[in-house]
Order: sequence, then structure tokens, then C-alpha cells
Amino acid sequence: MADLQSFQGWMADYAEVVKEQADYLTDLDRAIGDADHGINMARGTVKVAALAEAEDFASSEAYLKKVGMTLVSTVGGASGPLYGTFFLRLAGPLAGVADAGVEEVGAALRAGVDGILARGKAELEDKTMYDAWAPALDAYATATADGADLRGALEAAAAASARGRDDTLDLVARKGRASYLGERSRGHIDPGATSTTLLLESAARTLA
Ligand SMILES: Nc1ncnc2c1ncn2[C@@H]1O[C@H](COP(=O)(O)OP(=O)(O)OP(=O)(O)O)[C@@H](O)[C@H]1O
Ligand SMILES: [Mg+2]
Repeated sequence: MADLQSFQGWMADYAEVVKEQADYLTDLDRAIGDADHGINMARGTVKVAALAEAEDFASSEAYLKKVGMTLVSTVGGASGPLYGTFFLRLAGPLAGVADAGVEEVGAALRAGVDGILARGKAELEDKTMYDAWAPALDAYATATADGADLRGALEAAAAASARGRDDTLDLVARKGRASYLGERSRGHIDPGATSTTLLLESAARTLA
């Protein structure tokens, strides 16, 4: 089950991971973008991790909305509004839920990813973060149908997301800055798909 404290633990963990991986994320973005993805994400997740100390939140919903707004206003670039929208929408299905189980977290994740799609209009194999999110949602749903608990479903989602991230290697980018490179974007892993997998791996460690 995931309550306010677990969501705060998730964000604290993710901020640590992003700090550790910031140079790697930026290197990935140097190859097919403008070498700022790790810098952008680290700037935002530091602010997000500080929220829990600065303010008492009444609910998971209120907290996750603030996380989303903080990411929109601090990360910038393409990924700030996308991750920001993800968290703003993630909050919706958790309204009135003090302790979310596998079904509620699943509904929240789907709502979050719908937000990413609504904002970024990515399709499968455009070589974006959506290529890590889509297989994650599928794996989460399959695991849930097979009776997995929250941790099991999140672990399945994280593993599928990692495969989706790796499969971006051979894709040609059709969205975002990397699409300017055309064929030359092939042969590089997408930075946003990589930060998405880190987020789901962090969720599997902390949300159950
Ligand atoms: N339309 C989109 N839908 C989904 N994800 C996207 C989209 N456009 C870009 N991305 C993701 O954003 C990542 C790049 O994020 P980053 O923080 O580097 O922003 P940026 O591209 O440098 O932004 P800008 O070009 O506005 O400066 C990509 O690796 C990709 O996963
Ligand atoms: Mg960039």
C-alpha cells in the first residue's frame, strides 16, 4: 500500500538517483539533444525532495499535485512540462485515497501517462519517454491481472520499462529536439526513456 509517506519516500529516493545519474542522463542528451536532461532533472528533483520538509501535506493528492507544479516550474525544456503533467494527473485518481493499493496506483499511473500523451502527442516508437511508459503500463496491467501485489506490479512495470528504454536505441526520433537529427538519432538511447525507467525502479523500491 502507498500512502503520503511512501510517495514522499519515492521522491526522496528519485532525487538521490537523479543526482547520481545526472551526468549519464546529460551524456545521453548530448548525443541526440542539447546536453541538459540530467541538469534539468536534477534541478527539479532537488526542489521536489525539499517539499516534504518545507510543508505539511494533507493528502497524497495534494502532495503529488505540488510535485507536478514544482517540476513544471523548475525542470524546463520538454521534459519539465511532461513530468509535471504526469504528476499532476497521477494525483487525480488518488483523491480521497489515504493508502493506495495496486488497483489505485495502476489507475493513477495510467492517468499520468495519459497526461504525457495529451501534452506531448508522442506515439509508440517516436523514441521518447513514452516508449518506456507504454510497456510499463502493459506489464503493470498483466501483473495485476495475474494477482500481483503493488510491489510485484511495480517491479514488472520497471523491468518492462527498462526493455522499452533499451529498445529506443535503434529508433529514429520523431518528437522533440532529437528529431532534428533524423537518421543520426539512431544508435543512441533516449534520455527521457532512461529517466522514466529510473522513476519506475525507484517506485518499485519505495511505494510498497
Ligand atoms: N513530445 C514528446 N513526448 C514525450 N516525450 C518527449 C517529447 N519530446 C521530448 N520528449 C522527451 O524529453 C526528453 C528530453 O528532455 P530534456 O529535458 O532534455 O528537454 P529538451 O528536449 O532539451 O527541451 P527543449 O528542446 O525544449 O530545450 C527526450 O529524451 C524525450 O524522452
Ligand atoms: Mg535536452
